[in-house]
Amino acid sequence: MNIEIQNLTFSYPTGVQALRGLSLTINSGGQVAIVGQNGAGKTTLVKHFNGLLQPTSGSVKIGDWDTREHSVAKMARRVGYVFQNPDEQLFSKNVGVEVAFGPKNLGMSAQQAEGQVKDALAMTELSDKTETNPYDLSATWRKMVALASVIAMDTDIVIFDEPTTGQDAANIARIANVIKVLRERGKTVITITHDIDFCAENFERVIAMSQGRILLDGNANDVLGQEDILATTYVDPPQLTRLGKRLGLQKTVRNEEEFLAGLNK
Ligand SMILES: Nc1ncnc2c1ncn2[C@@H]1O[C@H](COP(=O)(O)OP(=O)(O)O)[C@@H](O)[C@H]1O
Ligand SMILES: [Mg+2]
Repeated sequence: MNIEIQNLTFSYPTGVQALRGLSLTINSGGQVAIVGQNGAGKTTLVKHFNGLLQPTSGSVKIGDWDTREHSVAKMARRVGYVFQNPDEQLFSKNVGVEVAFGPKNLGMSAQQAEGQVKDALAMTELSDKTETNPYDLSATWRKMVALASVIAMDTDIVIFDEPTTGQDAANIARIANVIKVLRERGKTVITITHDIDFCAENFERVIAMSQGRILLDGNANDVLGQEDILATTYVDPPQLTRLGKRLGLQKTVRNEEEFLAGLNK
């Protein structure tokens, strides 16, 4: 199921023009990272994918559904969105109930919902915490509950808004693993991130946004190699990419493997 965005603009009621004419296609199964300075419009953009926000002008289509023609509840069948702040998302007194809410609401049979919940809890390493109140968990584990409650809905498209912000190394590795599993299942995964190493390690396509527009969009190596343009939206390429450049490696590298291969040329 492709995402097709045409000439999208969006202004908040306050008058802030957050998106200034943006066109974009994300193919089914695509793995995309969105980077860019605070206020660039990243969250505003992805909130259009599930109809939480409606275009001021232009259009957003998820498969054959134009978001203007379908309710947020209906869009939730196709697009799952994990909020940056889990506290905006979680409302149940118990992890198991929280994660089961989405699948039940989508109208899955009890048996199917149970399977989805079990799978999502296992993927996020929460299977032993189903009886716990999310607010008795650390912020780190609350984040995993937020992930699980979206994964359980088994949507074709999953969006993570800054999943690694404020997370420790162990949890960043858990989140990377969740993204890997979703990728293997053929899901479209769109992730907003400030963590450029996380971006370089987990995504093939990178979109850099600045002031409500797309600044760069392409293969991760090509985008992360554009140090000067990225700097205008306050994004530094990964350490290894910069080191590779300073050492004069011919190709842009973004992980240890590519770096070592570049050195040995
Ligand atoms: N609820 C809101 N009301 C008014 N302006 C907002 C609201 N949310 C975001 N904005 C503004 O819209 C612009 C884009 O914000 P946002 O999409 O949150 O950027 P990002 O996610 O890239 O940090 C910013 O200027 C921000 O201040
Ligand atoms: Mg944001």
